[in-house]
Amino acid sequence: MNTLNYISLAVPDIKVAADWFTQVVGPPASGKALFEFDPSVTVKLVECKSSELGLPSIFDLGTLHLCFRVRNIEKVANTLISLDDTRLMGDIVDTGEGPIEGNRWIYFKAPWGTLFELQEWPNPPAYMSNSSVRLYHEHPVQRPGALYGIQGLDHAGYSVSDLESAIMNLNDLAGGVVVLRTEISVDADFTYRQFGVDVASTSRMAMVAIDGLNLELFEHGVSDKNPPRAITELGGHELTLGESKWASDLSEGIAPKRRMNFDFPG
Ligand SMILES: [Fe+2]
Repeated sequence: MNTLNYISLAVPDIKVAADWFTQVVGPPASGKALFEFDPSVTVKLVECKSSELGLPSIFDLGTLHLCFRVRNIEKVANTLISLDDTRLMGDIVDTGEGPIEGNRWIYFKAPWGTLFELQEWPNPPAYMSNSSVRLYHEHPVQRPGALYGIQGLDHAGYSVSDLESAIMNLNDLAGGVVVLRTEISVDADFTYRQFGVDVASTSRMAMVAIDGLNLELFEHGVSDKNPPRAITELGGHELTLGESKWASDLSEGIAPKRRMNFDFPG
């Protein structure tokens, strides 16, 4: 596979995380903690130091959730909870009117607490009747070696500080194209049940297609948002599109190059 893009994910114990990933999505590409997804992205697990902070909330800036495309979401959800320490959040949600009408989704927690998502799309997806651009939908019926019903990576979802800046940067610097937009209002009971945090929010969302990688961007209308975590911290991540490493908050565009400090002996 000709992978162009990388998503690095900080995990507290790389062996535990790689074993769990293998059970969910199938074996890694090279025996290392690298999981390749059609058509152009590799998820890389990176061990981080343990943290007393706990995991970031879905509303905190830069928070990433990876979402797997599935068929028969009820059956996949029921199979997932047979894995050790894997917990579903709330109920399977049927999305109402709009560009993702008929999409069905649910979040779940990995053993170390990071949120992931399952999503099942209707055929055809609702947005296609109003849009000439497309997300990546060419997933296999079944990803080899994965849990029954898991087809591949549906999207990487990011909480951003400024939706329009994130879209503009992804378009200018990586050729990303906006495929759909929507707005979602939820109350605190809903967010507690589905995401484990009790705060009401009106969130603006856009899905952007880049080289077959679907990105879901959320600007949450929540006042208290913690800053992004570094890749060295639990909940941290890094997105690399082609040659460029991005800031954790995609609104900020490409990350500034790290300053190199050389200590010469003598
Ligand atoms: Fe998502």
